[in-house]
Amino acid sequence: MQLKLVDKLKAEALDALIIGVTENQEVIENSELNLSLLKEKQLFEGKTGESFTATVLKEGSIHHLILLGLGSEESFNLTKVIKTLATLIKDQKKKKVATIGIDFSMLSKVTEAGNKLQRQLFSGIAMCDYEFNDYKTDAKPSTLETIEILNNSYNTQAFEEAVLLGETNVFSRMLTNMPANIMTPEKLADLAVSYAEGSQLEIEIKEQNEIEALGMKSYLAVAKGSSNPPKLIVMRHKGDPDSDKVFGFVGKGLTYDSGGLSIKPTASMVNMKDDMGGASAVIAAMGAISKLGLKVNVVGVVAACENMISGISYKPGDIIESMGGKTIYIGNTDAEGRLTLIDAVTYVQKIEGATHVVDIATLTGAAIHCLGSEAAPVVTNNEDFYFAVEKAFEKANEKIWMMPVFDEYKELVKHDQADLTNTAGSPGTITAGLFIGEFAKDIPWVHIDIAGTAFKEKAEGIYSKGGTGSGAIPLVYLAKKMSK
Ligand code: BES
Ligand code: MG
Ligand code: ZN
Repeated sequence: MQLKLVDKLKAEALDALIIGVTENQEVIENSELNLSLLKEKQLFEGKTGESFTATVLKEGSIHHLILLGLGSEESFNLTKVIKTLATLIKDQKKKKVATIGIDFSMLSKVTEAGNKLQRQLFSGIAMCDYEFNDYKTDAKPSTLETIEILNNSYNTQAFEEAVLLGETNVFSRMLTNMPANIMTPEKLADLAVSYAEGSQLEIEIKEQNEIEALGMKSYLAVAKGSSNPPKLIVMRHKGDPDSDKVFGFVGKGLTYDSGGLSIKPTASMVNMKDDMGGASAVIAAMGAISKLGLKVNVVGVVAACENMISGISYKPGDIIESMGGKTIYIGNTDAEGRLTLIDAVTYVQKIEGATHVVDIATLTGAAIHCLGSEAAPVVTNNEDFYFAVEKAFEKANEKIWMMPVFDEYKELVKHDQADLTNTAGSPGTITAGLFIGEFAKDIPWVHIDIAGTAFKEKAEGIYSKGGTGSGAIPLVYLAKKMSK
């Protein structure tokens, strides 16, 4: 599907036309639709997020004329509008349309059509066409060819960037959705390499022997039980060689999490091919950061592996070492994500010179209990850096929320037989974060737990069932914010 800004929408040439209508609007120019009649019959009032579809036969062809309520200055809600818009576009796809036009010229009557709004709108449109059907042999290719958006003095640069970001989100979702029998650590590394091809990104895949030489013993303990070897994926964007600042983006990349010997029940295991949502976000974001040529240094790191069971798997009760030097008591082999992340966090500081670290991970089921599927809980050691990250999420219309870090919680990650334990108990999301924080040392660090936001059980608005790409666009905005 191609997204275009056009100076004129030729209604007769479009299969469907979506027109934004405000609550107070009386007429739609060049249209036979009578708004006061629709209002009188309570069919459509222009409320924010409301819609009305009229299907007309004209000169032998079918046209869908769709009204989308923008509301009023007081009631306008962009999230609702985008959600309805996405649902309408998906509806039209089902009706096998090829071209859709969007006329949102009335938007300026209810809100300031600023860049932020435009970006969310355009990214949202670019995101709603994706569906995960790559493995259905009878899947029909989408008939939707073009969406034309009437150019209402939009900023074309913002438009192009927003579309790129929408595609970045879709790429991230594609990675997350691929099943674990295909998406092995090796496959993830190969896909990252081909994604980086033709860009300025430097990419390096470190093999098991190199990971051993680096002393990433905690990461290797998790990877040990699988026949598919680990791959450490490192992507570098050196956008500002004159600056000492390096932002490390670390994504959890468990291409499968069976729980290990502390095996998960089947129902909890089926979605664990998605335990690499953090990795997908980081890899996708790195591509966009490079394409946008941002003047900032960012290193993306994914310690990809599988958490499996075999004769040499790590075991509950084990005491393991880590690249950062601290020893760890294994209370539960299913708390594996943090073990891979700590070595990646140490690696990105020690070897890549990161001065700031963001890690993003489908880390704890408890995150879902904290904030459900709407927002991702965060643990940080630096509020200023947190607020920068929060702004980047806001810009992308995604939500994060800072969890409290009390001294009492910090005590919970300690253990009597080793320096730390990987199962510090409740509050599970915070103690998991604090465990990683032990390895961030004193540099600004933000840990984002996307266990609740990384995938959806059913399609909703711009999202399809499965991976949501949560964090991918915000990471690009963060890099942009940090760039010169
Ligand atoms: N990958 C899971 C977390 C998860 C759960 C993500 C549900 C998405 C949906 C993680 O590795 C895990 O198993 N965490 C355990 C930790 C516990 C054993 C301390 C959990 O949350 O139960
Ligand atoms: Mg686990
Ligand atoms: Zn996991």
